[in-house]
Amino acid sequence: MKKLFAWAVLAGLAAGVSQASAEPPPAYEGRRLYVSYCQLCHGEGGKGDGPLARQMGITPADLTTTVRSRSDTILTKIITGRGGQTIAGRARHNILSEAMPDWEKVFSDDKVGAIIAYLRILSRSKHRLIGDPEVGFKLYQKYCAACHGEEGDGRGVMTAIMKFRPADHTNSIQTEALSNDDMAGVIRYGKGGFMPAWDDILTAEEIDGLVSYIRLLSY
Ligand code: HEC
Ligand code: HEC
Repeated sequence: MKKLFAWAVLAGLAAGVSQASAEPPPAYEGRRLYVSYCQLCHGEGGKGDGPLARQMGITPADLTTTVRSRSDTILTKIITGRGGQTIAGRARHNILSEAMPDWEKVFSDDKVGAIIAYLRILSRSKHRLIGDPEVGFKLYQKYCAACHGEEGDGRGVMTAIMKFRPADHTNSIQTEALSNDDMAGVIRYGKGGFMPAWDDILTAEEIDGLVSYIRLLSY
């Protein structure tokens, strides 16, 4: 137990040394915007079953299937309300542009890009976001970045002074291979000689937040 605690302290120190000022990945901001503006109609998982859609009696697209075949350019047009004529046969988002303020005036290009990054994760990942990534982001910088790197690419400062290679959390092939339970299990109980166990330090809710944050890193 002592040894694990020492690890956490060391990791905390190293994070402090590196002046953690990391920017979260685009999909992180995209998820925040999605939760506030899109989930109402498109639903938490993007399936089109949001509460406002039910209220209005409309059937929004199932983003988990449609988004895969759309380019970033087309998605930008759809989201900014300029997409009516871009998809053959149907006027996308007519309902939206009538019922809501124009998204084009609401979101900067950066924000639209961030939303698209999140839509890509929604449509590609087979795992639900089980926790709050905003909780996860703060904890990741505090406890994990020392080894996994501020960007999650596995190049934290401690890897330069010690000989080990943590998992690369920006690699979606690696993170997709782990279920939410598997990932939470590694965080809770540790792995190999260097990945510490955090079950004495973090709550189940905090670990779920970390799992969700890690999923947003691998866009
Ligand atoms: C008021 C309800 C509503 C809200 C809020 C809403 N949408 Fe939609 N959205 C719809 C409906 C309805 C459709 C389907 C239109 C159609 O098929 O003609 C749609 C379609 C889409 C499509 C096209 C899917 C495709 O590829 O065919 C995208 C992308 C999309 N919405 C993204 C968003 C994003 C991003 C937000 C948040 C910024 C958002 N929507 C907010 C109702 C909504
Ligand atoms: C002291 C360095 C260190 C710290 C601090 C650390 N990790 Fe790790 N982590 C590793 C190493 C090394 C591995 C690879 C373990 C292996 O495969 O044997 C790893 C693996 C993982 C994995 C498994 C990925 C996979 O593909 O198997 C997850 C998830 C993970 N870490 C999450 C975290 C989280 C979340 C934190 C912060 C709460 C954290 N780690 C803190 C070193 C660290």
